[in-house]
Amino acid sequence: MVEKKKNKDIRVVPIKELDSGMILMEDLIDNSGVVLLKKGFKIYDIEKVLSFIKNHEFETDSILVEILEKTAEDYQEEDINKFKKGFYTVKKEMIDEVKKIMFKEEIKKEEMEEMIDEILQSAEGRLNVFQLLQKIREENDAIYSHSFDLMLVSHSIGKWIGFNKETLKELSLSALLSDIGKVKISRKIIEKIDKLTKEEELELKKHVVHSFDMVKNYTFMNDRIKEGVLFHHERFDGTGYPRGFVGTKIPVFARIIAIADIYTALIEDRPYRNRKSPLEAIKILELDYKEKLDIEFLYIFIRKIADRYVGAKIKLNDGRKAQIVFFPRFHIYRPVIKLDNGDVLDLLNEENKSIEIVDFI
Ligand SMILES: [Fe+2]
Repeated sequence: MVEKKKNKDIRVVPIKELDSGMILMEDLIDNSGVVLLKKGFKIYDIEKVLSFIKNHEFETDSILVEILEKTAEDYQEEDINKFKKGFYTVKKEMIDEVKKIMFKEEIKKEEMEEMIDEILQSAEGRLNVFQLLQKIREENDAIYSHSFDLMLVSHSIGKWIGFNKETLKELSLSALLSDIGKVKISRKIIEKIDKLTKEEELELKKHVVHSFDMVKNYTFMNDRIKEGVLFHHERFDGTGYPRGFVGTKIPVFARIIAIADIYTALIEDRPYRNRKSPLEAIKILELDYKEKLDIEFLYIFIRKIADRYVGAKIKLNDGRKAQIVFFPRFHIYRPVIKLDNGDVLDLLNEENKSIEIVDFI
């Protein structure tokens, strides 16, 4: 097999300008003779390297490196690392802040807002929030993780609806705090695998009131934020709680958090079932929740999610492989696909109704 080799890009760079995607072609030695990094070291996480070498002096300021051409995977890896780092640092700080709210301690509006800004910024990158959430899913920790997912997904929906920055911040805070009242519910109920009894169900439903009780006295939070918390389990057909509001009587923030809540619950692992893929989640939302959610918001949301899967390679239940070509305006879960042999199938057609998408390849 002939291996194609490109010309290597080898050059001398200032140590201060080391970057991800470079391989050291010589040892990095400080002026006391200690080898800090060995020849051949590949830099993935430049910030880690810089913080590691920043307290050292060097006899020369430059070093010989090979600069690798970055692949799409490298970029993706970088994005995930960037996101994870920012996400986990701010998440830890935020959990402390959220705990203060749980105990109704004093918190500063500015600090809270700054943290929300930081966490939302850490999610900005080449990958979108949804892909990132999929990637870091394995490191979940129940209530807090769900709250953070809820915040990020609600923020995305708000952005797609066209909210301004200030409103997006309020919506994010409302979503973040909407489930914190669950800490007052017995762990036995929260973690129960079997179906809840009637009493347990009633107990669980109280979390919206507990959450509201925790936030209601903070004067820097406006009513929209607090209503989002209290009413995020209201449903358009009146089957929700705590008030059984119908349709547009449900405040806007609560309608958005409701969509984000159902979606994130579907894509998270639960003790009693595996997580659904985003396409399966769309199918469930379209088939089971159309009467329960704000349909306009719902379609803005699921269309955006679906858009990301145009061109995705899929496997069908009969073993054939295909590619997604187009999502219809409604019945998004039945896209037009192109088989490997070139045939194009519209899954909405009656004759194709037995065909299911079972996996991504
Ligand atoms: Fe909830």
